[in-house]
Amino acid sequence: MTNILDSLDYGERGRVLIVEDATALARAAAELVIATVHDAVDRDGDATIALSGGSTPKEMGRLLAQESYRERLPWENVHVFWGDERWVPLESPENNAGEAKRAYLDSVGIPAANVHPFQTVGITPEQSATQYEAIIRSGVRDGTSGVPAFDLVLLGMCDDGHTASLFPGTAAIHEKERLVVSHEVPKLNATRLTMTPPLLNAGLNVVFLAAGAGKAERLAEVLEGPVDVDQLPSQVVRPKGGPTWIVDRAAAASLAKLNPR
Ligand code: 6PG
Repeated sequence: MTNILDSLDYGERGRVLIVEDATALARAAAELVIATVHDAVDRDGDATIALSGGSTPKEMGRLLAQESYRERLPWENVHVFWGDERWVPLESPENNAGEAKRAYLDSVGIPAANVHPFQTVGITPEQSATQYEAIIRSGVRDGTSGVPAFDLVLLGMCDDGHTASLFPGTAAIHEKERLVVSHEVPKLNATRLTMTPPLLNAGLNVVFLAAGAGKAERLAEVLEGPVDVDQLPSQVVRPKGGPTWIVDRAAAASLAKLNPR
């Protein structure tokens, strides 16, 4: 990645790469996808990616759909999943997979069979979670821990500290057995499906994308404050070697490591 302005090491909590702004973040993320896919395809013949919802990956996706990026990826060898999903039909603007399909996946030439949205119609949320876990187990190679290991897990962090659909105060943060669960999120009064920590943490490259001043305070708490995964679920993401955070200047602004007194 060429547009990195600064890099900070937080040990197990991760490594932070700072870029100028949201546009630079999308570019860095697109380059990361390309590099990770090539490594995985060279090594294993295909690449598996778990995408997140939110605005940041959408910008990245729009770039990937541009010809200069699109032609750099062997789309027929790329398999796309989602780290979390809302309990709405694929057609809904709230559906993470539907939005990614409409924004870019439908125009990059990836085979339909390589795109794996959650089923949110004609099934219960519990059945959908179980089914998604089975699809992942059959389509994603196991890592050293015996859990399927995505080549790349892309995550976002909301300003309430949640990541994927692991919301503050929910039991899913502590799930140890199931790799995917459905749950009610009281603060949203909504059903969400989400990958759980054992699956997210098995990822070979686990990367948070965060942009904007609204994330600054929470990011400082997650990386530099006391560990409290119930309040700050993003802290539960601890893959081997730590996650990578690609953030823009605005999101990094409150990090003490960046602004030593
Ligand atoms: C969801 C998301 C969530 C998202 C963050 C960041 O709730 O659907 O998957 O975890 O990634 O809220 O979203 P932005 O990129 O829009 O800030």
